[in-house]
Amino acid sequence: MVKGTNPKFYELSMEERREMLQKWSGLDDETLDDLCGIPGLTRTQAEGMIENVVGLYSLPLGIARNFVINGREVLVPMVVEEPSIVAGASFMAKLVAANGGFTATTSDPVMIGQMQVLHVPDMAEAARAIRARSQELLTEAATIDPVLVRLGGGPREIQVREFQDSPVGPFLVVHFLVDVRDAMGANAINTIVERMAPRVEAITGGKVHLRILSNLADRRLAKAVCRIRPQDLAFEDFSGEEVRDGIIAAYAFAAVDPYRAATSNKGIMNGIDAVVMATANDWRAIEAGAHAYAATRDSRYTSLSSWSSDETGNLVGELEMPMAIGIVGGATRVHPGAQAALRLMNVRSSRDLAEILVSVGLAQNLAALRALATEGIQRGHMNLHARQVAMSAGAEGELAHRLAEAMVREKKINIERAKQILEEWNRS
Ligand code: MEV
Repeated sequence: MVKGTNPKFYELSMEERREMLQKWSGLDDETLDDLCGIPGLTRTQAEGMIENVVGLYSLPLGIARNFVINGREVLVPMVVEEPSIVAGASFMAKLVAANGGFTATTSDPVMIGQMQVLHVPDMAEAARAIRARSQELLTEAATIDPVLVRLGGGPREIQVREFQDSPVGPFLVVHFLVDVRDAMGANAINTIVERMAPRVEAITGGKVHLRILSNLADRRLAKAVCRIRPQDLAFEDFSGEEVRDGIIAAYAFAAVDPYRAATSNKGIMNGIDAVVMATANDWRAIEAGAHAYAATRDSRYTSLSSWSSDETGNLVGELEMPMAIGIVGGATRVHPGAQAALRLMNVRSSRDLAEILVSVGLAQNLAALRALATEGIQRGHMNLHARQVAMSAGAEGELAHRLAEAMVREKKINIERAKQILEEWNRS
């Protein structure tokens, strides 16, 4: 049975959901508590992470269910403030699971470190010299992080790029491509480019200025594919073919129009960022990589995903994007919730995590496009939005539930109306 197919999960109390999650996942009590933020990040841990700490900031953690990725069932922890994201991902994952699940692949985890070389006396000659001595540079760079090399990673390739025309005149850019294995890689990369700068200066005769990782991680890609029979897409008055073709037309909009592509890609990132947050990874890096890739892959900003139908009429979705994600080091190592999240997903390498992330992104995109192409996005949002408004008006638990239902029935969901209804109920 696909883990988490109990249809009543969302109706349970939080305590009951935790019990069920423990049953499905086999997490021990301590790990389950860590996942659920009990007691959460300690003051010492928080102080070790950033400066000037005065407290902690909480967000909800939900579990997206029904994910089957490369034949493996995965329960996906998501940290996010927006309603409908966890439900949308779970629902679409269920459709995909019934059709064989997601197929996900990754490239080697290769990140790029950049050096900007100013005041180069002869650009063409310097570029030629770097290329000619790239093996020597790679061998030397490999001595900087012997642990990484022992783990099977290390420097892989040198690239040289010439910029003839810039606001400060010509300069050379040297890339060090490094397989960073299970790390996000920023530290490994930044150390290598800083330490190799004097060698590059000696070879080029220039002055190395910036030495920093690139967030356009287009050599560290993750790809997910899903395939769904049209009959599984049918609902209410919408036939499966209608839904399929509606999704493909929605994708076509994002494929040609950057205004739409930005929104469609934001929908993809709704899912990805939530899992990135749950694992305490650098979501700004993932965002930067995603949008830069969306803008450079086809030389103009476009959709990260694509949707089409195959020869038998199935809907086929594909998403390929950079995934600079780590499972060792940084906040991921320090944060107890992040460690528990990795354990829940049974992630053993950064590639495992990247495959989950890209599948969640594709599911989230499908949820948005299916809703937009049929009933519109507002209906699904309405109930949870109404509940949030009810809670902001001071209602809790069952009362919040009743108040939300009343506002949805009236189609008037705002804080003033919520307060009015509460007053009316208090008077009666
Ligand atoms: C909202 O957070 C995300 C969507 O706008 C995505 C999309 O339009 O594809 C619904």
